Amino acid sequence: MSTNIVWHNTSVSHEDRIAHKGHQPALLWYTGLSGSGKSTIANAVDRKLFELGCHTYLLDGDNVRHGLNNDLGFGDDDRVENIRRITEVAKLFVDAGLIVGTAFISPFRADRAQARKIAGERFIEVFVDTPLAICEQRDPKGLYEKARAGEIANFTGISSPYEAPESPEIHLRTAEMSVEAAAEQVTDYLRRKGFIF
Ligand code: PPS
Repeated sequence: MSTNIVWHNTSVSHEDRIAHKGHQPALLWYTGLSGSGKSTIANAVDRKLFELGCHTYLLDGDNVRHGLNNDLGFGDDDRVENIRRITEVAKLFVDAGLIVGTAFISPFRADRAQARKIAGERFIEVFVDTPLAICEQRDPKGLYEKARAGEIANFTGISSPYEAPESPEIHLRTAEMSVEAAAEQVTDYLRRKGFIF
């Protein structure tokens, strides 16, 4: 960080912003392999919350890589920077009082731990647990086939590691449930923990 930079408090506080909404802010951090269903489930949850009248926003891997992070690739250093920037952006939305979803592979435990540290008790890790064999069978974008053929370097699960969460707040075993049931599990958690009423 540069020197001679001073933090300014805003006239509308975090608490003021929360009081305007009928829910608590939260950061739903979806993590899982490519093709695991992160975006699909995150979108289903977002829709449910939206219909309940919650103020939400969804940051999604491919989309963020079209803009803010379009200078980053898939080497380890770039993935770390990808997640660092997303964490900072998500933190701003949470500060504004929203329920934010982030749907990124976010393969490294240390980066997710850092996001947890930054977002604090509002961080909810959602493990979209779909076995590699199923992701590869689905292969919605044809990327696994290309990775196996050696046409994509550093592909998660094939030639780049995925470090599964050890104790996620929400564990979605997607091979055994529908998208609707997965979304229900997430909103049930939010209700049980008092984020939504
Ligand atoms: S990461 O690891 O969190 O930085 O990745 P993320 O920003 O979520 O981007 C994942 C999407 O990028 C596409 N893609 C790749 N994924 C993994 N490894 C490699 N090498 C790669 N190259 C491109 C892929 O479509 C991922 O989308 P999802 O939605 O996860 O399937």
